[in-house]
Amino acid sequence: MAKPPSASHTDAEILAAPTDLSWLVMATQRLSVFRQSIMGFDSRILSLQRNARYNAAARMSEPAKSLSPSDALRFRPADLGDVGALVRLINSAFRVEQPFIAGDRTSPDGVRAYMERGKFLLAEDCSVLAGCVFVERRGDRGYLGLLGVEASRQGTGLGRKLMDAAENFFREAGCISIDLRVISARTPLPAFYRHLGYVETGNAPFASDVPAKVPCHYILMSKTIG
Ligand SMILES: CC(C)(COP(=O)(O)OP(=O)(O)OC[C@H]1O[C@@H](n2cnc3c(N)ncnc32)[C@H](O)[C@@H]1OP(=O)(O)O)[C@@H](O)C(=O)NCCC(=O)NCCS
Repeated sequence: MAKPPSASHTDAEILAAPTDLSWLVMATQRLSVFRQSIMGFDSRILSLQRNARYNAAARMSEPAKSLSPSDALRFRPADLGDVGALVRLINSAFRVEQPFIAGDRTSPDGVRAYMERGKFLLAEDCSVLAGCVFVERRGDRGYLGLLGVEASRQGTGLGRKLMDAAENFFREAGCISIDLRVISARTPLPAFYRHLGYVETGNAPFASDVPAKVPCHYILMSKTIG
């Protein structure tokens, strides 16, 4: 078969070249086969896109699936098996205090000491600890502390749900009021608790064994629930 003239051939050489154009016919046939296979590929892509659109539309018209019980938020009292998870949650949630107080907020021994005096109520999501609050009955009053929500869940309503759980716990225990205290340096906190119905009742000196980086005192707050 005659070769196609290359770019380096002169016009005279091209004119003198043999007139066998079978190479051109073969090239045209190959191009045509190639074009048909591209068209087949295009139609397969179009059909896949149509199927994907149909499936998405079908999914949107399905009724919303309800959360399975394991996805829902659950509340339960903590036991000794929760000490490690509680320490991690509390220290992570209270990291916001580090400008005012040195070191971690608690430790395994610290959590176990709280458990001897009262209970931690836990909020769990898919068996992952999302929040906690400590509740301690003191006669006909309740003391509430260490309210903590896992950092990525803060601002989503979980703090309020934990406070509701604590208040229900104290109501069922026959308490008439709930007391808590906040560190004065945490300036947004009194407004948070006021929003939930607590009022300031006084101040108390800061714990001498807590390494404060700035002068601090406790602001005492209470709510009547009886
Ligand atoms: C404080 C903390 C527990 C709040 O939990 P949260 O899940 O972020 O709070 P929520 O989203 O449930 O907010 C509850 C309500 O308080 C309101 N609120 C939040 N911050 C507020 C503020 N500074 N002032 C007034 N209202 C506030 C919210 O708008 C929400 O109102 P609504 O329920 O009427 O809509 C959480 O931010 C946290 O773990 N912080 C670190 C640990 C800590 O400081 N604990 C308290 C120690 S005393």
